[in-house]
Amino acid sequence: MLDHGAAPPVVESTTPKTSALGALTRRKPVERLVMEGGQGEGGSLRRSLSMWQLTMISIGATLGTGIFVVLGDAVPQAGPAVTLAFVIAGLTALFSALSYAELAGTIPVAGSSYSYAYATMGELVAWVCGWCLVLEYGVSVAAVAVGWGEYVNELLDGTIGVTIPDALSSAPGEGGIINLPALIVVLLAMVFLLGGAKESARANTIMVVVKIAALVLFCTIGFMGFKSGNYSDFMPLGMAGVSAAGASLFFSYIGFDAASTAGEEAKNPQRDLPRAIMLSLIIVTALYVLVAAVAVGAWNWKDFEGSEASLAAIMNDVSGQAFWGTLLAAGAVISIASVVLTVLYGQTRVLFAMSRDGLVPKVFGKVSPKTGTPRVNTVIVSVFCGVLAAAIPLGELVDATSIGTLFAFALVNIAVVILRKTRPDMKRTFRVPLGWLFPVLGFGFCVYNMLSLGATTWTVFGCWMAAGLVFYFLYGMRRSRLATAAPAESAASTEK
Ligand code: ALA
Repeated sequence: MLDHGAAPPVVESTTPKTSALGALTRRKPVERLVMEGGQGEGGSLRRSLSMWQLTMISIGATLGTGIFVVLGDAVPQAGPAVTLAFVIAGLTALFSALSYAELAGTIPVAGSSYSYAYATMGELVAWVCGWCLVLEYGVSVAAVAVGWGEYVNELLDGTIGVTIPDALSSAPGEGGIINLPALIVVLLAMVFLLGGAKESARANTIMVVVKIAALVLFCTIGFMGFKSGNYSDFMPLGMAGVSAAGASLFFSYIGFDAASTAGEEAKNPQRDLPRAIMLSLIIVTALYVLVAAVAVGAWNWKDFEGSEASLAAIMNDVSGQAFWGTLLAAGAVISIASVVLTVLYGQTRVLFAMSRDGLVPKVFGKVSPKTGTPRVNTVIVSVFCGVLAAAIPLGELVDATSIGTLFAFALVNIAVVILRKTRPDMKRTFRVPLGWLFPVLGFGFCVYNMLSLGATTWTVFGCWMAAGLVFYFLYGMRRSRLATAAPAESAASTEK
């Protein structure tokens, strides 16, 4: 078990404060965050991941339902300008990715933005950020798993001519009883994760190669059916349609930050995390714009209305052979499974860090000595996400996930600016260029995208945050390690 009493002296003050305001604003020093890295209740995480594997984790977590499923819903909103919507959503992701890269290289710990907020803005904001990450990771796993089920049906239909009946492949509220495929894919990912981070990363790398190959195949075949006339009315529903589509498509960029949750399992986190984050975003953006451009070139934008698994349908149409659509569906099934695997991984690591800080129960921080992974945490998170996936309709989840993520990204952009100001001395392996410009733009884009989301999404988000605050005031605030630190530890952490 981690001996917290052995904390070396750190530069900033963490003396537990007794006033309520003091409790809410107490910060965790960067040095302490880094020093505790890798440690959990009962053991340490293993450092086994290379730069390549980290990049694959971020691509694995990003490329999935957004392009295979959500694209089909976004085209009727924006028309051929869906390509522009991808660029707008990509810019939001890019500015925030730069901020993630700087902080991941400076504070390479499992908590990702939650930990960055803890070091710069204090415990309450960190909690809010961590709670948003549960939306980004935990809830998006459920949404993605539902998209997986749609492609499984497409695949079954194309190969053996049967589909899983609606009752067993849709959530209640969408005409079904339970979404069994969604539940199954989450449980399968759990099995991989229980085997260890390195083993999961290997499986993920194979799946990522398959998904990139599937999208390249789509572009090659889809391009044969390209009709420039489909672009004649580029923005049929105006800029409002493009912004609405951009806000939905932001979902497709969620996950590039997943590598930052592997900070305590990376072999050389300071060097590799910034590279992995940036590289994954560049690859993913290029693929998105290309795939969207080919899709709206091959099909008139109006044909996307009401079409499920549209990429596979386009392949069938253009080639005139069902074989290609079925092959793409197989690629999508593998692709989306890798999103479930890596996003689930990210969620367990964020909760691991929050548990080490005392803000969620200790059970999330227990590490198995055999695999070097938080196994109980993995089982709890998987069961939670699996049940959510099996019982909640996708539409509600996608936008709620985006708003939570945008909020967390906005905080990361602020954290860069604060850390530059409060700790200009710290070694940074990557610095966002041009001073504060990009973090400020990143913040602005996040807020703009959040405002484009509808009233229902804001209501869902408001309820989610209210529940999070209740949990914090009843549990985390009192059990926080910064609140319960032994006097000796407090003294050590305030030494200069
Ligand atoms: N970006 C991930 C996806 O599109 C969540 O599936």
